[in-house]
Amino acid sequence: MAFTRKPWAEPYKIKVVEPLKMTTREYRLEKIKEAGYNTFLLRSEDVYIDILTDSGTNAMSDYQWAGMMLGDEAYAGSKNFYYLEENVQKYYSYKYVVPTHQGRGAEHLISKALIRPGHYVPGNMYFTTTRAHQELAGGTFVDVIIDEAHDSQAELPFKGNVDLNKFQALIDKVGGENIPYITVGATVNMAGGQPVSMANIKAVSDLAHKHGIRVILDATRVTENAYFIQQREEGYKNKSIQEILYEFCSYTDGATVSGKKDVYTNIGGFVAVNDPEIFDQLRNMVVVYEGLHTYGGLAGRDMEAMSRGIEEMVQQDNIEFRIKQVEYLGNLLIEAGIPIVRPVGGHAVFLDAKRIYDHIPQEQYPAQALAADLYIHSGVRAMERGIVSAGRNKETGEEYKPKLELVRLTIPRRVYTQSHLDVVAYSIIDLYQNRHETTGLKMVYEPSVLRFFQARFERL
Ligand code: F0G
Repeated sequence: MAFTRKPWAEPYKIKVVEPLKMTTREYRLEKIKEAGYNTFLLRSEDVYIDILTDSGTNAMSDYQWAGMMLGDEAYAGSKNFYYLEENVQKYYSYKYVVPTHQGRGAEHLISKALIRPGHYVPGNMYFTTTRAHQELAGGTFVDVIIDEAHDSQAELPFKGNVDLNKFQALIDKVGGENIPYITVGATVNMAGGQPVSMANIKAVSDLAHKHGIRVILDATRVTENAYFIQQREEGYKNKSIQEILYEFCSYTDGATVSGKKDVYTNIGGFVAVNDPEIFDQLRNMVVVYEGLHTYGGLAGRDMEAMSRGIEEMVQQDNIEFRIKQVEYLGNLLIEAGIPIVRPVGGHAVFLDAKRIYDHIPQEQYPAQALAADLYIHSGVRAMERGIVSAGRNKETGEEYKPKLELVRLTIPRRVYTQSHLDVVAYSIIDLYQNRHETTGLKMVYEPSVLRFFQARFERL
């Protein structure tokens, strides 16, 4: 056999397998109807290849599983907590850490600690749970990402960057004293997993600190961000992921982390800061909402899996394979002429539903329809990231109409092989051929917060 390129393979071998279930088209038609055309409401059993999310769906390593047996399930002062604290200090640079059950637990605490009614919270594009907690605390989110991030076809190496002019304009308008912090997501999930450059985080940090504004990093996928810096930013080619990660975090005042992504666990998260007074507030609040400050809603074994996951996430072969696997799927689709967000991001390939279903207006939820149709077609489960996810403006009640109307094909870490991705690409290409045969949806049930998780639809 002739190779057109040097082959590459997963930097691990498989020790435990979980069988997949194939179903018929008729069966899936019935199941998606029952689920109100919302892939979040399907039963996992009825899914063939599950690329709904990379959150908590990772395969842990034997090193992590071995650590699970070392869980110190003490109510207070578990040794697994101290190990987690040590690794957060060593890898992320922050002094103080409070564990939480997952990322949104961390967002809840930091929002409640720092945001007061009337405050503005800028960020490089919104993330669903992050913005929800900021609004629940009385804040108003303001998007300060560069314009190009809203254009699916703009090819930029750091499409997640903060637009410093937009940030400055907000400071001029409302005053630094009304901005408790800026949230910087790296990478930016809703923009397609796009990274932030080291130069940008440094500049954001300088501007923010000049006005007494803190920088809070959403470090959920910051290892993926570090890899892009290593590959794309001048001066970082010979630096390790660990060094880049540490430097990046060092420009910020704290971070919220969902351990369910980069850190390769199935549950867990934390919030970390440098300021002892903020730490004190977080530590007092975590007791009310999550659990004692040395477990934050987690079992000791979960904290152990996180600490070990942190050590694995910075290993070059792991992160490189992770990013290249996502890129592999993206390239198969690009070669077939399927419109996707460019460049391919860190954790997912995003289908441009506006272009694929160009016959369905945004009010009829083209991305929601495309995710449902992909499931019907092949049992592949993806998710909507468009108008349904964007929700409504909390003042006017109007639906936000994001420029990006996307379906996210999110790749869990260490779970699927290249063959699975071939099947996914094949299914999408096949669906694309007959894309104009489908119709849009109408929403028949709408939850008041984070509606995309539980909303129900009917076919028009
Ligand atoms: N920040 C980002 C950038 C995220 O992607 C997520 C979760 C969170 C915070 C919240 O963390 O789920 O542990 O509470 N993203 C998942 C996803 C849900 O599918 O993208 P969590």
